[in-house]
Amino acid sequence: MTQTSAALGRIQPSQTTAMTDRAIALKAQGRDIISLSVGEPDFATPSHVIAAAKAAMDAGDTKYTAVGGTARMKQAAALHFARDLGIEAPVSQVTISAGGKQAIFHALLATLDPGDEVLIPAPWWVSYPEIARFAGATVVPLLTEAAGGFRITADQLAAAITPRTRWLLLNSPGNPTGATYPAETLRALGEVLARHPRVLVMSDDIYAPIRYSEGSHATLAVECPGLADRVLTVSGVSKSHAMTGFRIGVATGPQWLIAAMETLQSHSSGNPCSISQAAAVAAFEGPQEFLRDWRERFRVRRDLVVSAINAIPGLSTPVPDGAFYCMVDAAPLLTRFGGDEALAMHLLEHGVAIVPASAFGGCDGFRISFAADDDVLREAVRRIAAAVA
Ligand SMILES: Cc1ncc(COP(=O)(O)O)c(C=O)c1O
Repeated sequence: MTQTSAALGRIQPSQTTAMTDRAIALKAQGRDIISLSVGEPDFATPSHVIAAAKAAMDAGDTKYTAVGGTARMKQAAALHFARDLGIEAPVSQVTISAGGKQAIFHALLATLDPGDEVLIPAPWWVSYPEIARFAGATVVPLLTEAAGGFRITADQLAAAITPRTRWLLLNSPGNPTGATYPAETLRALGEVLARHPRVLVMSDDIYAPIRYSEGSHATLAVECPGLADRVLTVSGVSKSHAMTGFRIGVATGPQWLIAAMETLQSHSSGNPCSISQAAAVAAFEGPQEFLRDWRERFRVRRDLVVSAINAIPGLSTPVPDGAFYCMVDAAPLLTRFGGDEALAMHLLEHGVAIVPASAFGGCDGFRISFAADDDVLREAVRRIAAAVA
């Protein structure tokens, strides 16, 4: 007999993790599987970050820290917000958590009541709707399409807001589409939001350092300073610095929200790992030049995957401007294969693990993560072409 809560009954396990686990299980059976389902850079964590983690352990930094992170870590996060996102955040309005995911979880749980509505552009990152539903809120998808750059419009936002709307969740560069929001689109959204003071906005900028076009990253807190008292910006080191296992996320927003998130954190995980905090300080304060090199390597892989996918009959993908994902449209093939999940299983049979688009609440196809070696990617798209031929 299971005795789980009604809240748990409202959510599903992460489908990206499920696909990755399936690929791992098949590999363990000796099958040759290329896994392009996981959302993490394949690069090794930089050595100066590893050294900082070791030094922290040797120095005895192995005890509880302040719940919302050490003063040093908060300063490093404030440096990141200012240097990389252009957000001047006082340390008192910065908090540190066990990954960006925990920051988002705490922010939503601390603010949502049953009946509230959360606007989420789709395709979305898998955890957004699940966290909102866990908190008892209703998810309102704002559907976007490749033709519109996978971006919501101001009119779409205006039409979706009701008296029950509590949050709009924005993610740029986006997972799973790689879409980015230019400054003018953010300002147009900001004009709509200015008319609805009850709506909080999350700007999940965790992929900001992985952007391919020229010009600086645009973010809502900078473009719409009038919204400063209700924008929460989330970032971290997981994706930018290849530190997914360290579990450090950072957030900045209005004082009351940061305090609320820390209250919740004080009763969930407590402080983020002390050793990981020391490592993240090194990540933010140390050299950043290697990021340019990583970005160029991602760009080469992106171009390789985009051109190979677009050469396969029945598949197409736009060129993503950020992150390391391609959203592949497979609509012309889905009737033949019986849906995107069946297509994903078919591709797995042919040795490639990807994530079906339905996991992200949109599109007829699948997401490829191109955070893999060039040769591995070439072989993967060869297998995909053979599988759908
Ligand atoms: C859009 C987005 N936001 C937040 C996260 C959370 O990252 P982490 O908790 O690993 O720092 C992820 C990870 O996949 C993501 O894709």
